[in-house]
Amino acid sequence: MYNKRVIDYFSNPRNMGEISSADAVAEGGNPVCGDVVKLYLKIKEDKIVDIKFKAFGCGACIASTSALTEMVKGKKISEALKISNEDIAKYLGGLPVQKMTCSNFSTDVLRKTLVGRA
Ligand code: FES
Repeated sequence: MYNKRVIDYFSNPRNMGEISSADAVAEGGNPVCGDVVKLYLKIKEDKIVDIKFKAFGCGACIASTSALTEMVKGKKISEALKISNEDIAKYLGGLPVQKMTCSNFSTDVLRKTLVGRA
């Protein structure tokens, strides 16, 4: 069962959409279920100044990716790279254990997006 905060982030995703003039874009998926996340980032010097996402996925995937975008906006790339799926789950007030893998791949996509920029 999802808590109220997860349901809110799933029902009203923050930072959903795309950035046409993004400095970095990456896409990745969960090979187990086929869900997909795409991230768009605006980067100034070593800071993430804007981030948006598109996702085709379950509630945990969308809520986690939405939370991730809030967590990294305004952060230095080096700080953003330290965020784990456990941090996302904590930010959301907890995720069901069987849904923790759903929050894994948004952090993987973020790392893929930021490769070589830290
Ligand atoms: Fe696919 Fe959650 S079931 S990411």
